Amino acid sequence: SAAPLVLGIETSCDETGIGIVQGRRLLSNTIASSMDEHARYGGVVPEVAARAHLEALQPAIEAALSEAGSTLGLDGPLPLSALDAVAVTSGPGLAGALMVGVGAAKALAVSLGTPLYAVNHLVGHIAADILTGEEVEYPTVALLVSGGHTSLLLVRDLTTDVELLGETMDDAAGEAFDKIARILGLPYPGGPQIDKAAADGDPTAIRFPRGLSRASDMQKHRYDFSFSGLKTAVARWVEQREAEGLEVPVADVAASFREAVVDVLVTKALDACAAYGVPRLLLGGGVIANRRLREVALARAAQAGVAVRIPPLSLCTDNGAMIAALAAELISSGRRPSTLEFGADSTLPV
Ligand code: KG4
Ligand code: ZN
Repeated sequence: SAAPLVLGIETSCDETGIGIVQGRRLLSNTIASSMDEHARYGGVVPEVAARAHLEALQPAIEAALSEAGSTLGLDGPLPLSALDAVAVTSGPGLAGALMVGVGAAKALAVSLGTPLYAVNHLVGHIAADILTGEEVEYPTVALLVSGGHTSLLLVRDLTTDVELLGETMDDAAGEAFDKIARILGLPYPGGPQIDKAAADGDPTAIRFPRGLSRASDMQKHRYDFSFSGLKTAVARWVEQREAEGLEVPVADVAASFREAVVDVLVTKALDACAAYGVPRLLLGGGVIANRRLREVALARAAQAGVAVRIPPLSLCTDNGAMIAALAAELISSGRRPSTLEFGADSTLPV
């Protein structure tokens, strides 16, 4: 039978993502973000995100169908009736935001009479790699870093065997960037701002702490992350300077902070590759846009004999195409669809 035509809905955070795939082929990937609406709060506001999803869903679905129609060379949009299945992120994420996507997906699947697949957001990030068109090999270690999560996973098989090795105990990596940017007086979202400011700074100027990296952390938290101590250290350092009436060297603080985050992310990811004998590392999530992270990951992985994969940014940030891609793999592997009983689950395990 032909590769399944799947529409995927992603609403776990602030991006309303609708993607359509045909098996491993990407047909459309439309994203509406409510980022701008959160800017004045300095972070994603759950209620604002949920409402924005409600407003963005219908136009995003229409845009995705149009884009898919043109990718396939049709005269108009891809008709909904052509879909073989609907897929949706059921968790983890913001409960209210997830609920909007889950409700829409159920309504769509029921009205079309198609199977419905509820999928895990983190596994979706891993599935994004399939859409690059390059041969994907498992096992791989995956490091997912965004404003909402910081997770290290071992993927032995995408559809049957994904293991969470570790995750953040407090702030997500992107969240840490956003909070430090705020301390330094830089606008939201802070990641790109810190990246820019750090370009002229000395990453060795200040030695900030690497969370959960001491020998005593290696038993219980070898693959976990913590950024709240780092955040406090930066805040204290800046306050101290100001109390002494000295100017804050923004570029050096940004570069030193970024170095601490990057160091701990790459060290733990490559440690997992070594410990499990896996010579592959997949990167995903919006923080992958960070130049220094890519640079350090590529350099240290090359030394360690680990092959790094970084999908294009449009597939790394939250999107619906990765959700559709995961469902298409599940269908091809013979997985039964979800029943309608499932709901949004903000803490859904992998
Ligand atoms: O995956 P993503 O687009 O969506 C959510 O998590 O909602 O990630 C957004 C996060 C924000 O926290 C942003 O500050 C961070 O990714 N980010 C970066 C960079 N670009 C975006 N962090 C560090 N360096 C960057 N260049
Ligand atoms: Zn995500």
